[in-house]
Amino acid sequence: MADFNSDFWHWYIAIATVLSILACVWLIRWMTAGFQKKDEVETTGHVWDGDLTELNNPLPRWWLGLFYVTLAFGGFYLLLYPGLGHFSGFLNWTSKGQYEAEVARVEAEVGPLFERYQQTAILDLINDEQALKIGERLYLNYCATCHGSDARGARGFPNLRDADWQWGGDPDSIKATLLYGRNAVMPAWEAALGGEAGINEMTQYLLRLSNRATIDELADKGEAKYQMFCVACHGINGKGNTALGAPNLTDDVWLYGGSISKISESLIKGRNGQMPAFGEFLGEAKVHLLTAYIYDISQGAE
Ligand code: HEC
Ligand code: HEC
Repeated sequence: MADFNSDFWHWYIAIATVLSILACVWLIRWMTAGFQKKDEVETTGHVWDGDLTELNNPLPRWWLGLFYVTLAFGGFYLLLYPGLGHFSGFLNWTSKGQYEAEVARVEAEVGPLFERYQQTAILDLINDEQALKIGERLYLNYCATCHGSDARGARGFPNLRDADWQWGGDPDSIKATLLYGRNAVMPAWEAALGGEAGINEMTQYLLRLSNRATIDELADKGEAKYQMFCVACHGINGKGNTALGAPNLTDDVWLYGGSISKISESLIKGRNGQMPAFGEFLGEAKVHLLTAYIYDISQGAE
């Protein structure tokens, strides 16, 4: 073990440990040595309440034996397992090694199963009850913290059960999202739109895009600026662009909230949602099963 930066600590710990064990042996032998010869019961010489004397009996043999057993156990343990400084023990056991062996055992067990699933198309996997069960379990382990245990998301974390996709909801797009992650870049617009007034106008236009009541005069001004600044990503009609992760602004589904103040906040601060990459962490086989699960739960959604 390379946890010590000099040999001093190795010897310090090893010697202190061995000496402590030897000291315990010596202490027990010393404390019990006198008893063997005498038949009479000794007293400690303490007397209370006139006639209450304290006897000095030896420990029962079995009890004494237990002490020796514990010491012997300690000695053997330190010979077999790491414990004495950086001596690694004759069994060469390490927690990392044990963990790796367990992982390897499980991989060998489930590897072929995952392999088979990975060769199966997503559109076929969604008819495979067992594959979806595994996908669900993976989802609960790795995704539920952000997207919720029901996969309906929360503010800033998209609902995965609906038909609204920022980055595309077909199997290939979902799989790419999981493998490589996604990094949404929506710039901040306060300066470009001309401060608070410009933000208000744009917000009014976005309300109109999503079919809500608006102050038309403001929305008209917003529309002109929309054509200038926003079409590149959100499209001429506001339907978004899955290649850039630019959301559809016409459907009244809002990742960051659809109230006037939340929409304005999105414009003022910009947004930068990040979906972590899972390809390296989970491996393609698990991502494949997760894709099937996500694709399946979003089918039939509005
Ligand atoms: C650390 C939080 C976090 C975790 C963990 C996480 N996600 Fe995400 N995910 C996000 C965020 C944030 C976004 C939105 C990114 C954006 O703004 O475009 C997202 C987006 C997505 C999208 C794209 C949605 C769309 O509309 O295109 C999918 C699909 C997805 N996540 C699935 C998963 C799955 C499956 C897992 C588990 C393997 C997972 N996520 C784990 C935070 C997370
Ligand atoms: C460079 C491309 C780009 C441009 C230009 C752009 N956006 Fe965005 N916009 C995005 C992306 C990507 C997101 C998603 C951000 C996220 O998921 O974190 C987004 C998110 C939003 C949101 C939040 C939507 C929600 O669901 O909460 C609003 C509102 C919005 N944009 C409005 C605008 C307006 C108005 C303009 C023009 C002034 C504009 N965007 C210009 C890329 C862009």
